[in-house]
Amino acid sequence: MDSDQAVAPRNHWKTCSSFVIGCLVAVSLQVIFFSPISPEVLEFPPDSSVLLLQSNSKLQEVIKLGEGLLDKPEDVAIDEDGVLYTATRDGWIKRLHKNGTWENWWHVESEGLLGLTVTRAGDVIVCDAENGLLKVNEEGVKVLVSHFNGSKLRLADDVIESSDGTLYFSDASTKFGLRDWHLDMLEAKPHGRLLKYDPGSEETSIVLDKLAFANGVALSADQDFLVVCETLKFRCLKYWLKGDFKGETEIFIDNLPGTPDNINLAPDGSFWIALLQLVSPRLKFIHGSRVVKRVIASLQVSKLWVFGLHKKATVVNVASNGKQIKRSFDDPTGKVMAFVTSVLEFEDHLYLGSLQTNFIGKLPLNSV
Ligand SMILES: *[C@@H]1O[C@H](CO)[C@@H](O)[C@H](O)[C@H]1NC(C)=O
Ligand SMILES: *[C@@H]1O[C@H](CO)[C@@H](O)[C@H](O)[C@H]1NC(C)=O
Repeated sequence: MDSDQAVAPRNHWKTCSSFVIGCLVAVSLQVIFFSPISPEVLEFPPDSSVLLLQSNSKLQEVIKLGEGLLDKPEDVAIDEDGVLYTATRDGWIKRLHKNGTWENWWHVESEGLLGLTVTRAGDVIVCDAENGLLKVNEEGVKVLVSHFNGSKLRLADDVIESSDGTLYFSDASTKFGLRDWHLDMLEAKPHGRLLKYDPGSEETSIVLDKLAFANGVALSADQDFLVVCETLKFRCLKYWLKGDFKGETEIFIDNLPGTPDNINLAPDGSFWIALLQLVSPRLKFIHGSRVVKRVIASLQVSKLWVFGLHKKATVVNVASNGKQIKRSFDDPTGKVMAFVTSVLEFEDHLYLGSLQTNFIGKLPLNSV
């Protein structure tokens, strides 16, 4: 406008600074009132628990299986014949035959395929954050559970079959789906649960509620208890299925030196757990302030940046009673293995799934 041309530089500066102040106020209001999260401050385990782990870079020695063929293979399962199964970000359920060839077995319209397990009947059960719990076999893919108690499952995460055929599976969050899992982590409230599916009645029921990002699920060697990991509490819980404590819950292991993802039973009765973000000054800063969390949630910054997940990978072997970390392997730089989400022991090798790689890592245990 013509009149604007005549405005003195001083006034111009005033207009400009009020604009900047206006913007700051708007951003603050956005952060405080319209933030996608209402966060809690997150408690970190004592520093001493992290110091327990000696870095050894052993995960940099993995053999890469299916390199280039596998888009973020989060979990790995192996059947009794030694056929390896994984589910990838591009919606494929793939398998590696004993003769070394990969097969694109079935495709699902989903970018949310996560944990999987092979049942005794030979079916593969897959957690699909977009569609629920899937049963996969030579006939195709069937949705077993898509809803619970009237609402759609948003983040089915990991599953295990007990000897009576019951499927125990985690639903990491009832509030945020896979695309927004980082918001659940920032919010740090317990929106997760452990569910069970009875294949006889085809009914689903709740086992444990209010878990802080319910993640990996495993059964003990004689199936007297199951373990479910609560990522945001740096711990895994033990839920008794048999005996005097049946139906009771206690802590299996806490103060883990990182946030636990998937857990698997090892042949000797111990457990392997993949640990995600290790404790870092940046994470402590972020998780120590509700305001910082709100700002980060509003800014849509990279999930990997927030948590530094691309910078490290660690797996630990925990005694069968949860009392001790027996061994740990890591890649301290994330150069070869980063964002490792699962670790499975089979015939003296570890198989490592990841949400960062395009391969599955295989580590011979007798050489490490
Ligand atoms: C490998 O084994 C699978 C399953 O038995 C079979 O379908 C495939 O043709 C075999 N591939 C080769 C190259 O032998
Ligand atoms: C089922 O949904 C109702 C209504 O939203 C809720 O009150 C109840 O707690 C839910 N039950 C379970 C087991 O989640």
